[in-house]
Amino acid sequence: MTNKRIVLSSDHAAIELRQQIADHIAAKGWEPVDIGPTTPESTHYPAHGEAAARRVADGDCALGIILCGTGQGIMMAANKVKGIRCGVCSDVFSAQMIREHNDANMLSIGARVIDATAALEIVDAFLDATFEGGRHGTRVDMIKALEA
Ligand code: RB5
Repeated sequence: MTNKRIVLSSDHAAIELRQQIADHIAAKGWEPVDIGPTTPESTHYPAHGEAAARRVADGDCALGIILCGTGQGIMMAANKVKGIRCGVCSDVFSAQMIREHNDANMLSIGARVIDATAALEIVDAFLDATFEGGRHGTRVDMIKALEA
């Protein structure tokens, strides 16, 4: 993957974990593009999910990592942007599979669901995996057709 830029965003529930993830992926050679927010005031996860998703959909960033309390709401918003395939993961196997089988281009994490150690392992699994294509490509094409 030549584009090493990974957009990160969250709502107020996940600011500290988001910053830990940004530092972690930078240490692994990725280029984090952290679009905030940076302060802990209550905010609205759909806006942050959309903003991150647009960076991926327009090609500025290769991948995205987004977080909210559960990871669910911000994932729902991101998946409304055409071209985005985002899954919430609380385990390493799912994080690997959403890349290998679903060609996910965004990962969502619930900061109130898992701890930082698990989150970093999940991020690593997501970033280390590669889409397998083949029959999985047929299925991903069917997902893409739904938004055509
Ligand atoms: C915010 O309190 C919370 O609703 C949000 O972080 C997220 O969990 C929504 O899906």
